[in-house]
Amino acid sequence: MDSMKKAHVVAPDAPVRVRVESISKRFGTLTAIEGVSFEVRQGEVLGFLGPNGAGKTTTVRILTGFFPPSEGTVWIDGRALFESPKEIKRQIGYLPEVVPLYTDMKVSEFLDFAAAAKGVPRKFKKTKLKEIVNRCGLETVQNRLVGQLSKGFRQRVGLAQALVGDPKVLILDEPTSGLDPKQIIEIRGLIRELGRERTLILSSHILPEVSMVCDRILIMNKGRVVASGTSEELEASLKDTQEIYIVMGERHRKDEALGFLRALVGVEKVSVIDERSDQVSLSLTVSKNQDLRPAISRLFVSREIPLLEIRSGRLSLEEIFLKIVVSEAALQEDKAKPEGEKTEPEKGTGAS
Ligand SMILES: Nc1ncnc2c1ncn2[C@@H]1O[C@H](COP(=O)(O)OP(=O)(O)OP(=O)(O)O)[C@@H](O)[C@H]1O
Ligand SMILES: [Mg+2]
Repeated sequence: MDSMKKAHVVAPDAPVRVRVESISKRFGTLTAIEGVSFEVRQGEVLGFLGPNGAGKTTTVRILTGFFPPSEGTVWIDGRALFESPKEIKRQIGYLPEVVPLYTDMKVSEFLDFAAAAKGVPRKFKKTKLKEIVNRCGLETVQNRLVGQLSKGFRQRVGLAQALVGDPKVLILDEPTSGLDPKQIIEIRGLIRELGRERTLILSSHILPEVSMVCDRILIMNKGRVVASGTSEELEASLKDTQEIYIVMGERHRKDEALGFLRALVGVEKVSVIDERSDQVSLSLTVSKNQDLRPAISRLFVSREIPLLEIRSGRLSLEEIFLKIVVSEAALQEDKAKPEGEKTEPEKGTGAS
């Protein structure tokens, strides 16, 4: 069987199946997403990662033609989605966040119904549905009512429904939410397999999930794409930033230490993490890929301040995700300051 690792390389000349050009969506005065752009190639698995309310579902719904963007365009196979939505929609399989299943239908009836809705020709229907049922591991529940299935099996039925009609593009919104750990592993395995053959977009707020399943990740926060790349690229982009952790003695000399540490070339930020008895714990954010530990220890030694502990750590992808999300939040708060507190006063509004 397939190994747990993702990693299949998407051919650089693989055709672009989905192209999203600067889409925004407003609900009244609320801007749910703004200026979101990306491309997904055939055979590529793209993951949207973001906290609650980041705009993942809104983006996904626009991609499926559920509602149009307020601005911007979605191109599926080079054709604008909202110019010929019906035909294009047939190329998209969609597993919504909340799967709208017809609970009083048998699994087989429900899939039959989905096949009719997607216009699957009668002569292929039986074989195609059999294939999907096997693939999603639904053989044993075909004759059971959808409403009586466990959450995991219902999710599989949702996935099966999305696969009906052989869509070129598969969009899954939080496909593993609410599943138990065993079901999660099974569904992830299935997703990885499905992603080999088509274009797959999935949303999740679980970082290990996207880094495990996806070739490329878009991190969303507050309606914007704040970072994108492979998980390796995302890690590398912030690898330049290191964290150095220091514990010093002689707490009364804290300000002196803060002064010379902040003056050190390469140090971006020094924060006090903890102060107790005669000790202070500090965290330094260091830009560039250099090891400042020798320089730092020399400074402490020359001033005869006890350096009780010093160690450096690279940021994990999880920390990077948090850092991006948290620093973005700080940025937004700054933007939300009242007019009087802004540094640059607004100029005239007239066009020029
Ligand atoms: N139909 C709607 N009407 C009004 N506001 C909406 C609507 N749909 C979404 N929003 C708002 O848009 C923002 C983005 O929501 P969205 O559901 O896209 O986030 P999400 O990333 O999918 O979050 P979650 O992880 O909780 O599913 C939120 O502030 C939400 O309240
Ligand atoms: Mg959502």
